[in-house]
Amino acid sequence: MILDASDLPDFRPAANQGENAALYELENQALDPDGLVLAAMRARAPWRGRTLVDLGCGSGYWLTRYAGEAGRVIGVEPDPRLLPLAAQRDPRVQVLRGSAEHIPLPDASVDVIHARFAYFFPPGCEAGLAEAMRVVRPGGTLIVIDNDLHHGEFATLLRASPWAAAQGGGSLADAWWAERGADRQTVHSEWRFTRRDDLEAVLRMEFPADLADPWLAAHPESLGLSYRYVLFAVDKAAW
Ligand SMILES: C[S@@+](CC[C@H](N)C(=O)[O-])C[C@H]1O[C@@H](n2cnc3c(N)ncnc32)[C@H](O)[C@@H]1O
Repeated sequence: MILDASDLPDFRPAANQGENAALYELENQALDPDGLVLAAMRARAPWRGRTLVDLGCGSGYWLTRYAGEAGRVIGVEPDPRLLPLAAQRDPRVQVLRGSAEHIPLPDASVDVIHARFAYFFPPGCEAGLAEAMRVVRPGGTLIVIDNDLHHGEFATLLRASPWAAAQGGGSLADAWWAERGADRQTVHSEWRFTRRDDLEAVLRMEFPADLADPWLAAHPESLGLSYRYVLFAVDKAAW
């Protein structure tokens, strides 16, 4: 499929979910099995009865988790391969084509925006942050879910990966968000798979073979790994 998104120039196809939505579904199912990340997100910016946008919602895995509680749930996604999957996910949610810098919603119309591993990989995210703050109501909040690069087995792999080098080892993102008034909290969690084959396939999707294979060889019985998440939150009031 040709990924024509010339009207969404900030669209960067996701190498993991964009190329292999079924495998990324297994990753989503395995991550944070006790719901600690969701609990921290809910405590920081409750969505009961409110309007929630999942920005860069991918195939829409998380939309369903919000739908029973939020007043209205909207997924926004630029990838034409993932949009139809998200749109079919749950009749209670609405899915729109758009991107962080082009959110197809009116000013001050949303209470909570979540961006989970989507777009906000600083630096260079000023336009998306301004656009998110445009659609958030006074009193509303943007929460960005990212990887912590300092603690846990996943972070050890990430620090050795080409991706982390491009991100300045995490300190660059921390400084970028701090300069913009975001607060930062971490959540100690894990990946927990039920099948070893799934862990191996997901790890090999996320990391080059020279990182994934030695880790798997050194942990032959593992069905998961420790994983620390970081949440950056920006309130409209502080903006
Ligand atoms: C790693 S996937 C995560 C998807 C989803 N948030 C999840 O956790 O299942 C990253 C997502 O960001 C989307 N994306 C890429 N560029 C974007 C942009 N400029 N604005 C918003 N989302 C974007 C990708 O198409 C993909 O769906």
